[in-house]
Amino acid sequence: MNQKVAVFRKEHFNAAHRLFCADWSAEKNWEVFGPCSNPNYHGHNYELIVQVNGVPDPITGFVINTKDLTKIVDEEVKARFDHKNLNLDTEVFKNLNPTAENIAIVIYNLIRPRISESLDLKIRLYETERNFVDYPA
Ligand code: NI
Repeated sequence: MNQKVAVFRKEHFNAAHRLFCADWSAEKNWEVFGPCSNPNYHGHNYELIVQVNGVPDPITGFVINTKDLTKIVDEEVKARFDHKNLNLDTEVFKNLNPTAENIAIVIYNLIRPRISESLDLKIRLYETERNFVDYPA
């Protein structure tokens, strides 16, 4: 019997970004990225949902202690990205376009080593209410 349970922690952070390819003209960048390519950056209110799947521990009844999960997300994600300019203030996005896709992959890779290998991790990131991504797909 599959007794896996999905546990979710919802978090929020604000960050500025700009999507562009340095090799392209301003027109080409606008064509592909639209207002997200504005040279002076803009902000998003990111909603982050961290999902951990696993079998509850027979003693605690927890898949993961949400107190621990919250601490991990605070340290790995919020401390790094909240109220930051992703392009300018973070190493990881200096040469990587900070799309929702790439941010979700980066967040996964930051959190994964801190979660037990017996648990599955999934990241859902909302860039706007209507645009969101899941990683892994
Ligand atoms: Ni944007």
